[in-house]
Amino acid sequence: MSEKTLILVKPDGVKRGLVGEILGRIEAKGYRISQMRMLQATDDLLAKHYHEHTEKPFYSGMTAYMKSGPIVAAIIEGDRVIEGVRSLSGATDPTSAAPGTIRGDLGRDWGTGEIENLIHSSDGPESAQLEISVWFG
Ligand code: PPS
Repeated sequence: MSEKTLILVKPDGVKRGLVGEILGRIEAKGYRISQMRMLQATDDLLAKHYHEHTEKPFYSGMTAYMKSGPIVAAIIEGDRVIEGVRSLSGATDPTSAAPGTIRGDLGRDWGTGEIENLIHSSDGPESAQLEISVWFG
């Protein structure tokens, strides 16, 4: 059975006009966008989405970054799509993410103190299910 994952194009990706490039890479790989919306993240949505990280020292700065502009949320479908989109996204730190990945090719450190890494993608079936319900109800 085909799998689903949740991606967010983060505010830096939207501000830099990279929504098409990022989604295009996912589509070019062969996955299908089944739902998509642009919205402003709120504290409530972010607390649910990043529930494992709310006590981490970076949480406050990360939520400020995630609320700094609109984001695009999308549900992506395909066999082994969770693993595939994580692989396309690349490592968390865009400076060291491998070339060929979204973060490695398009991201960098902008000296803001935040990790501006363009895309979030679910890291497993349980988080995908939870995150899809957070952003799509
Ligand atoms: S941990 O503590 O190892 O579990 O955290 P990590 O997996 O590295 O990161 C969890 C998510 O928090 C984001 N993150 C940050 N965003 C902005 N600024 C800072 N300083 C920061 N540190 C961590 C990181 O990108 C992960 O979010 P997603 O959306 O999954 O990329």
